[in-house]
Amino acid sequence: MNGGGPTIIGPLPAKTSLQVNGRQLDFVAEPATTLLEALREQCDVTGPKEVCDRAACGGCTVLLDERPVASCMMLALDATDRKITTVEGIGSVDAPDPLQMAMAEFDAMQCGFCTPGVVTAAKALLIQNPRPNLDEIRAALSGNLCRCGTYPNIFNAVLVASGQEPVEEPTDRGRSASGERA
Ligand code: FES
Ligand code: FES
Repeated sequence: MNGGGPTIIGPLPAKTSLQVNGRQLDFVAEPATTLLEALREQCDVTGPKEVCDRAACGGCTVLLDERPVASCMMLALDATDRKITTVEGIGSVDAPDPLQMAMAEFDAMQCGFCTPGVVTAAKALLIQNPRPNLDEIRAALSGNLCRCGTYPNIFNAVLVASGQEPVEEPTDRGRSASGERA
C-alpha cells in the first residue's frame, strides 16, 4: 500500500500470480505484460495464439471466469484474481471435451491456428447457452476469424456438441449433414 492509497506496481518487473487451468502460476514480469504474453512466455501455456495483437481476430481468446476475452488486450496484472481457462483447460487428449470431440469429428480446422480461440469462444457460448441455434453460434463466434474458411464445419461441430443436428453444408473435409464422411 502507498500511505493508504492504491497499490503501486512497477515500473520494475513485479511478482505476478495467475490461476490458469486450475493451477497457480507465479512469475515475475513487467507491469505492461499482457495476459497473452504472460501465458505464452512466462507460463508456457501456448494454446492462445498471437495473430493480430489488437482484439480483431480472436486467436488469443481465453475464458476469464467463463467469459471470453482477448488476452492480447488485457494486462496480466488485471487478471490475477480471476479464473483463467485456456483451450488446454477445456479438455485433454485423454479426456477431451465433447466440443473438442465434435471439432475433430467434423474436421473443423485446416491450419488449426484459429482453433484454440474458436474452441474457447464456443465453450463460453455453451456455458451460457447449452443449446444455441445457428444464429447464436454465428454471433458468438463472429470475433473469431478463420482464414481457412472452416466456418460451416465449426458451426456443425458446435451444434452437435450441444446435442443438435448439423445444419450447415460441410466443406469437403467434413462429415456430410447425413452423417457420412465426405
Ligand atoms: S491476437 Fe488477440 S484478438 Fe487477435
Ligand atoms: S483453420 Fe486455419 S485459420 Fe482457421
